[in-house]
Amino acid sequence: MTGAARRVGKAIALALAQRGARVAVHYGNSRAQAQATVAEIAQAGGQALALQANLESVAEIKGLVARVVAAFGTMDILVNSASVFRRRPLAEVTERDWDEHLDTNLKAPFFAAKFAAERMRAQGQGKIVNIGDWAGIRPYRDYLPYTVSKAGLIGLTRALAKALAPEVQVNCVALGPVMPPEEYGPEEIAKLARATLTKRLGSAADVAQAVLFFCEGTDFATGATLLLDGGRLLA
Ligand SMILES: NC(=O)c1ccc[n+]([C@@H]2O[C@H](COP(=O)([O-])OP(=O)(O)OC[C@H]3O[C@@H](n4cnc5c(N)ncnc54)[C@H](OP(=O)(O)O)[C@@H]3O)[C@@H](O)[C@H]2O)c1
Repeated sequence: MTGAARRVGKAIALALAQRGARVAVHYGNSRAQAQATVAEIAQAGGQALALQANLESVAEIKGLVARVVAAFGTMDILVNSASVFRRRPLAEVTERDWDEHLDTNLKAPFFAAKFAAERMRAQGQGKIVNIGDWAGIRPYRDYLPYTVSKAGLIGLTRALAKALAPEVQVNCVALGPVMPPEEYGPEEIAKLARATLTKRLGSAADVAQAVLFFCEGTDFATGATLLLDGGRLLA
């Protein structure tokens, strides 16, 4: 489970643990938060392990998957949640911005899936869930590398579903506003909620339910993208 120390990723990790999964809580810089997530899972009677890796490095992703398999003996579920999200109007986009977003948000899910799927196929089953964004369908203004990366993630989901069938199902949950950036104030948050059809932000439980559906609710969905956006795309 990548990017599992904080925020949305943490909510998914807690939900998977509650359903009995042993969870590898991947983090980049948030070591203390990752350890707190592991402690929270253990306190609730679950099993988890914090593992650090820089997802811009394919070698580190390979090592991360190997460490998960060594620790747990299996690899049943991969959730790609880690992501970078930075405002970058077209005129300001640098090569570094492009590489950071595409490497973290698209290349990393691809290679994590490639390495995890080797194990999943050997086991005869597996689930991969990519955490996307409705902006992958209708781009946010001024977030160009981010929206391109999330559009790519929807394509990646479909391509991997085909490549990894029939053993592994690959799906995507494209989120609308759930946990706004930490620097947002109350008015900006209220504006996000007003812009949905449901007039509220998504909750941790909403996200968890969607991910659990793809992990344990069905084997028949693959290559699917579930829009979990409060109707934001239609609003
Ligand atoms: N929050 C929302 O409302 C919302 C809306 C739409 C879509 N989404 C999607 O949902 C997912 C989770 O959202 P979020 O808001 O919780 O994400 P976030 O806080 O922006 O980032 C999640 C984690 O990604 C990790 N990360 C970023 N770059 C990394 C790298 N190079 N190596 C390793 N880890 C790296 C960071 O881990 P460390 O902190 O450990 O460094 C960070 O905590 C994302 O895919 C996002 O696009 C979220």
